[in-house]
Amino acid sequence: MTEATRAVLVTGAAGGIGGAVARRFAASGWRVLLTDVEPVALAATAAACGGAAHRVVDLRSTARCRELVEWAAAEGGRLDGLVNAAGVWREGPAATTTEADFDVVFDVNVKGLYFTTAAAIPYLAQSGGFVVNLSSDAGIQGNTGAAAYSASKGAVALFTKSLALELAPQGVRVNAICPGDVASPMLEFQAHTYGGGDPAAYYERLLSGYPQGPGRARFIRPEEVAALVEFLSRPEAAPITGATLSIDFGYSAGK
Ligand SMILES: NC(=O)c1ccc[n+]([C@@H]2O[C@H](COP(=O)([O-])OP(=O)(O)OC[C@H]3O[C@@H](n4cnc5c(N)ncnc54)[C@H](O)[C@@H]3O)[C@@H](O)[C@H]2O)c1
Repeated sequence: MTEATRAVLVTGAAGGIGGAVARRFAASGWRVLLTDVEPVALAATAAACGGAAHRVVDLRSTARCRELVEWAAAEGGRLDGLVNAAGVWREGPAATTTEADFDVVFDVNVKGLYFTTAAAIPYLAQSGGFVVNLSSDAGIQGNTGAAAYSASKGAVALFTKSLALELAPQGVRVNAICPGDVASPMLEFQAHTYGGGDPAAYYERLLSGYPQGPGRARFIRPEEVAALVEFLSRPEAAPITGATLSIDFGYSAGK
């Protein structure tokens, strides 16, 4: 008897990390169900995953989050995993953060992630599945100049821990990954939107914060994050739940 193909829903699949996660699971024989708000790049990821099922969804609507999970469970015939990689970045001093920026950061990074996960719980309980949430180094330590983003990622970290406790009796594991700076469209957006017209200087400033020092520091590759996500789906990762796992070249290890 062959084991039924396991199915994983990946949000933010048009993005750097979500795209790499989708390709990694597809290459490992999983059925991948993909979603994002950006249709063109989402279709490209789906094509790179051998024509995977995909659906354009704006996760700011909790009703759409629920519909998304129902669609994924129907397409997959089951749901063994959920990777929450959708996210947005906004920066600027707390004193001048607009309500619009605050709302989009919390609506996508926290509310969308929360209600997508909540809708998936019955399916994950049935399969003994897993959740991986993308938090950030900014979710476990403060981030100068990005207080709203940092607060949203801190919420993801403690949602992860709380849910891990809640779902442990049902055999569902829930973990958060906390990357440092990953070479992705988000990082390019940051540099071009907030770099004062000099993206290269923005990148340089970020890299100067790493303990490797000049010449040795580099940005993390999305594929390196995807490898850690996929590891967390494996039986060897059975003892790992409620964790916030750093993948950041030591950026958050201390001063
Ligand atoms: N890139 C980094 O340096 C970095 C570092 C730490 C954590 N993270 C987190 O990892 C996750 C993935 O980041 P990434 O670097 O791949 O960014 P990315 O911008 O490449 O991908 C994020 C994706 O989320 C999607 N998205 C945005 N708003 C949405 C909405 N309303 N509904 C549905 N989808 C929406 C975007 O379209 C995009 O494709 C994010 O949660 C991010 O905060 C990124």
